[in-house]
Amino acid sequence: MTTIRPFRCDDLFKFNNVNLDPLTETYGLPFYMQYLAHWPEYFQVAESPNGQIMGYIMGKAEGGGELWHGHVTALTIAPEYRRLGLAGKLMNILEEISEKKHCYFVDLFVRVSNKVAVEMYNKLGYAVYRRVIEYYSGEVDEDAFDMRKALSRDIEKKSMVPIPHPVRPEELD
Ligand SMILES: CC(C)(COP(=O)(O)OP(=O)(O)OC[C@H]1O[C@@H](n2cnc3c(N)ncnc32)[C@H](O)[C@@H]1OP(=O)(O)O)[C@@H](O)C(=O)NCCC(=O)NCCS
Repeated sequence: MTTIRPFRCDDLFKFNNVNLDPLTETYGLPFYMQYLAHWPEYFQVAESPNGQIMGYIMGKAEGGGELWHGHVTALTIAPEYRRLGLAGKLMNILEEISEKKHCYFVDLFVRVSNKVAVEMYNKLGYAVYRRVIEYYSGEVDEDAFDMRKALSRDIEKKSMVPIPHPVRPEELD
């Protein structure tokens, strides 16, 4: 049976099987520690009965006024555990936490080329809010979709009204 539990410090030494995926960003240890210290409730891991990490979600709450929102910083599932509904489950948890914190919406950035993830987010009720030019740097820079889903506090779903023109990373609020 799969266990979903809060991420612990020592999980950082066990998640290579998940992070080796090319679409999964790997950050420096202080970055993960900062999330664990500030937003532990937003950092959840799915663990198999043999103790292997199946995937995890890491996020935070930020912004002021009507921009107060939950943010998905990382979501990844190991290849052998995909299509079992795990990512959907972890996203539901992050959304529920954001609802409890009275956030207006949840947002995330995803590579424009990552069709599987974009499809999945669409299915979960997310829509493209704006395109961010060259958000991801690499050998070839790549644009991101900034996708959003309104939560119950945003009754009119104002947070999801798309911006029709692309923006540059330095213009992000
Ligand atoms: C994207 C990712 C997180 C999805 O994880 P997952 O646990 O397999 O997703 P789920 O099983 O919850 O799938 C939910 C829905 O997304 C869609 N979906 C997921 N994988 C899909 C695929 N390979 N092809 C088509 N649709 C897919 C389906 O609609 C699926 O629902 P269904 O199985 O009932 O049809 C996983 O593929 C992954 O870790 N990819 C690499 C990292 C990444 O891209 N992270 C997101 C960056 S923002």
